[in-house]
Amino acid sequence: MIAGGSFIFGRLMSSNTPPQTSNTLNLSNQSHAPSSTGTGSTSPSTSTPTQTPQTTVSGSEIGPASQVAIGKIAAFTDPISGDPAYVLHLSSNKFVAFDAVCPHAGCTVQPYLSQSIFQCPCHGSQFDLSTGQVISGPASSNLTQLNLAISDGIIYVTD
Ligand code: FES
Repeated sequence: MIAGGSFIFGRLMSSNTPPQTSNTLNLSNQSHAPSSTGTGSTSPSTSTPTQTPQTTVSGSEIGPASQVAIGKIAAFTDPISGDPAYVLHLSSNKFVAFDAVCPHAGCTVQPYLSQSIFQCPCHGSQFDLSTGQVISGPASSNLTQLNLAISDGIIYVTD
């Protein structure tokens, strides 16, 4: 259940802000969480009279797409790997997501929207914000791109 629309997001990153400040949305991933009061039941108890067509997405929900404005980036935990990750809204309804673990030695990269890069705080590797490709080392490989799907306005990480 989506309660209040902000259950997933925390920090939103704007273009001129250092990464550790509070401009990144936080998406706390919920992998197909049951939609009611935490009874622990995984079977949906449908008492809703309105039949909303549901698109089945094979993946884990990370948050509403509407919460990440175009040009903004949101942090979440990859529900598959458990790693920190970012989702970036590139253009109208086009999103990309990357595992934030630096391929050099495992630190968590930070986004700098104004420079269109992710930068690793440990040894300075830089990666293209929209592709995850290495711009400068010591990292020698790209950030891992995550597969996304959007259904009914919700972003999912798919395998
Ligand atoms: Fe990222 Fe070394 S861990 S550059």
